[in-house]
Amino acid sequence: MPDTLLSLQGVRAGYGDAVVLSDISFDLADKGSLAVLGRNGVGKSTLLLTIMGFTRMTRGTIHWRGEDITRLAPYKRARAGIGWVAQEREIFPSLTVAENLTVTARPGHWTIERIYDLLPRLKERRGNKGNQLSGGEQQMLALARALMTNPQLLLLDEPFEGLAPIIVEELTAAIRKMLTEQGTAFVLVEQHAEIALSLTKDAIVLERGNVVHRAPSAELIKDEATLERLIGLKVS
Ligand SMILES: Nc1ncnc2c1ncn2[C@@H]1O[C@H](COP(=O)(O)OP(=O)(O)OP(=O)(O)O)[C@@H](O)[C@H]1O
Ligand SMILES: [Mg+2]
Repeated sequence: MPDTLLSLQGVRAGYGDAVVLSDISFDLADKGSLAVLGRNGVGKSTLLLTIMGFTRMTRGTIHWRGEDITRLAPYKRARAGIGWVAQEREIFPSLTVAENLTVTARPGHWTIERIYDLLPRLKERRGNKGNQLSGGEQQMLALARALMTNPQLLLLDEPFEGLAPIIVEELTAAIRKMLTEQGTAFVLVEQHAEIALSLTKDAIVLERGNVVHRAPSAELIKDEATLERLIGLKVS
């Protein structure tokens, strides 16, 4: 498949001797989007860390645009076009918003002006240091920083975690706009299943390190029984 951007085949990975992911396979098309759902501790963050090359992978392969990157160093994966926003919202606390954005900048569609159009709140706060931002603003900055690297694929780890509903709405709108503007492929790990499914084309559900369900997001969002069984979600 020439338009496959990322392909995981039979991936087993973990930390030291502990196996967290047993056997994960999926393909992501160029401009595709995948929601990764599952209860706490099933290995969602570990999956993103594995795509970035930060875990110990003991079986399977990862291909990026047709090339085997299974053994490639994390910084080379980043340089090849994979952007990652960690669950811990890593930003530079002592740098201003503007400085945080410029240190990661690489040429491409996303410039600081476009970022400020996408997330006006960051423009208002551009002189504030990272540690003078609210949780929601920090999350916006973490997303913006990753965009400034102009990645071809963006890995987002629970971007809405702990945010007030109004900020979730603001961030959801920004992600939607980002998709229509640029069509960046992304993998979205999220506890808010309804939002994640509304933003993505496809979805997988993890359980104990395996993919236990896969479906188009538009189908899964209507499949109340499966959502309740696999992630304990009651769709209102
Ligand atoms: N650095 C680490 N070293 C050893 N074990 C780890 C490490 N990070 C995570 N684990 C273990 O791996 C398993 C999966 O963790 P992971 O963080 O991937 O889950 P998750 O699905 O992202 O959970 P959550 O929804 O709470 O973020 C857990 O049992 C966790 O304790
Ligand atoms: Mg996690």
